[in-house]
Amino acid sequence: MDLGFESLRDHQFIMIEIKYRKFIEKDNEAIIELWKKCNLIVPWNDPHKDIMRKLKIKDDLFIIGEKSKKIIASAMAGYDGHRGYIYYLAVLPEYQKKGVGSEILEIVENKLLKIGCPKINLFVRNSNVKVKNFYKINYYKLQDSQVYGKRLIEDN
Ligand SMILES: CC(C)(COP(=O)(O)OP(=O)(O)OC[C@H]1O[C@@H](n2cnc3c(N)ncnc32)[C@H](O)[C@@H]1OP(=O)(O)O)[C@@H](O)C(=O)NCCC(=O)NCCS
Repeated sequence: MDLGFESLRDHQFIMIEIKYRKFIEKDNEAIIELWKKCNLIVPWNDPHKDIMRKLKIKDDLFIIGEKSKKIIASAMAGYDGHRGYIYYLAVLPEYQKKGVGSEILEIVENKLLKIGCPKINLFVRNSNVKVKNFYKINYYKLQDSQVYGKRLIEDN
């Protein structure tokens, strides 16, 4: 059986049992630790503020995965009524390449689909192109667009 990029997502290679649930405030420090270990913390974003802002949006789209009560994965998704977005997708290094990232991605995709989101866009930093295969095997395609940003609040 060919288990190339196209079919990898359908391959049941998850051997570890992970509990997925909504993020709650007391997960704060543990999730920031996870993001640090995954190199997702950048000087221009304050993770505490990012979490606080997300919690003000009352949706069900900030998910963590835990194993034996330890947070090992996260995905912070959102829907603006037109597109869905996913940020802070992370899997603790020692649990990577076991299908956990694809699994949590699929969970947030299903949640977005359930609320009528027709399409997801997400950002991959140019310094992080090594994850492009991960998105490719999960059927994400590079878009013919450029991302423009304008900061309204300086965090640091
Ligand atoms: C991206 C990430 C969430 C993927 O999680 P994961 O649990 O390893 O993903 P899966 O096991 O479902 O998929 C693994 C596949 O994705 C690709 N992949 C994932 N991480 C990769 C990496 N660092 N380098 C190259 N390929 C990678 C590979 O094709 C891999 O398959 P393989 O093991 O057969 O080579 C995880 O690598 C991570 O937390 N990275 C650091 C944070 C990050 O960059 N997040 C994305 C921000 S845009």
